[in-house]
Amino acid sequence: MEFKEKLKEYQDIINNQLQNYIKKEKCLEKQLNESVEYSLMAGGKRLRPILVLATYDLLTSEEKNEKCFPYAVAIEMIHNFSLIHDDLPGIDNDDFRHGKPTNHKQFNEATAILAGDSLLNNSYIVISNDILNQTKSEDIKLRLKIFNEFSLAVNKMIIGEYVDTEYEGKNITIEDLEFIHKNKTGALLTLCVRMGATLANCSESDLDILTKFSEKIGLAFQVKDDILSEIGNEKELGKPVGNDKERKKCTYVSQYGVNGAKNILQELTEGAIKLIRPYGEKAEFLIKLTEYIRDRNK
Ligand code: IPE
Ligand code: IPE
Ligand code: MG
Ligand code: MG
Repeated sequence: MEFKEKLKEYQDIINNQLQNYIKKEKCLEKQLNESVEYSLMAGGKRLRPILVLATYDLLTSEEKNEKCFPYAVAIEMIHNFSLIHDDLPGIDNDDFRHGKPTNHKQFNEATAILAGDSLLNNSYIVISNDILNQTKSEDIKLRLKIFNEFSLAVNKMIIGEYVDTEYEGKNITIEDLEFIHKNKTGALLTLCVRMGATLANCSESDLDILTKFSEKIGLAFQVKDDILSEIGNEKELGKPVGNDKERKKCTYVSQYGVNGAKNILQELTEGAIKLIRPYGEKAEFLIKLTEYIRDRNK
């Protein structure tokens, strides 16, 4: 199957799964539910849940990857929680995402804050329900390990967002910048790969290789985000261009220039691909996904 087709297949699976968690009933908190749906179904690339499924598929010969679904859904909830809060006036103060008004612009700030909180909390409900549904103690143990790792990675994202916001407009070292990117963005991507690998009952050495792979694509992803924030096409991107510069944010572009950042991106891409090439034909999708992270325009 062509990469684009496979990508779409994964995206469709995830969109269908997410639909199961959208609440439509008439109730006092109807607007809160609408606000959650507004962001969750706004047309994101679904890169994080795709990484969970594709890593699982890399390591197994099973046709079905259903056991990953709760974790794929939960991570996309966390991602959208992070985007809603990232766009708030107190953080990035952005008005557009996915080509539409940001959550707080469409609804209001209180609703956006609480929609983020709701997504955060519901991700834990989805995972803990999956753990409660297990009967074998080894399956429970494996999922509890993932649950713990999940919480730790969300913490890293929050810390990354905090440091990113706190040091806006200030001079920071390259090491600090790397810390921000690895935490605010990299940690969740690493989590996704490790969740897929762990659910596939992989060996320690596979987990080690794939963790290294994920760290490279995690940083690459944010370096590309920095590049797109400088030279991207606002229409295609669906979110503002030039806002990092406006806020005097320290990014890979402000530190290395666009070409310097592109070189780093290329190096990370090559390094990541090299790590998974030994998996042969089965790695084809993840290799193409790594190139997609480098080449994407949105
Ligand atoms: C944007 O992530 C926020 C970053 C961590 C850079 P995505 O580009 O993956 O967001 P989607 O695809 O719009 O959901
Ligand atoms: C987003 O970082 C990271 C998280 C939301 C955790 P950015 O602020 O750089 O991403 P965009 O450009 O708004 O998507
Ligand atoms: Mg931000
Ligand atoms: Mg932002």
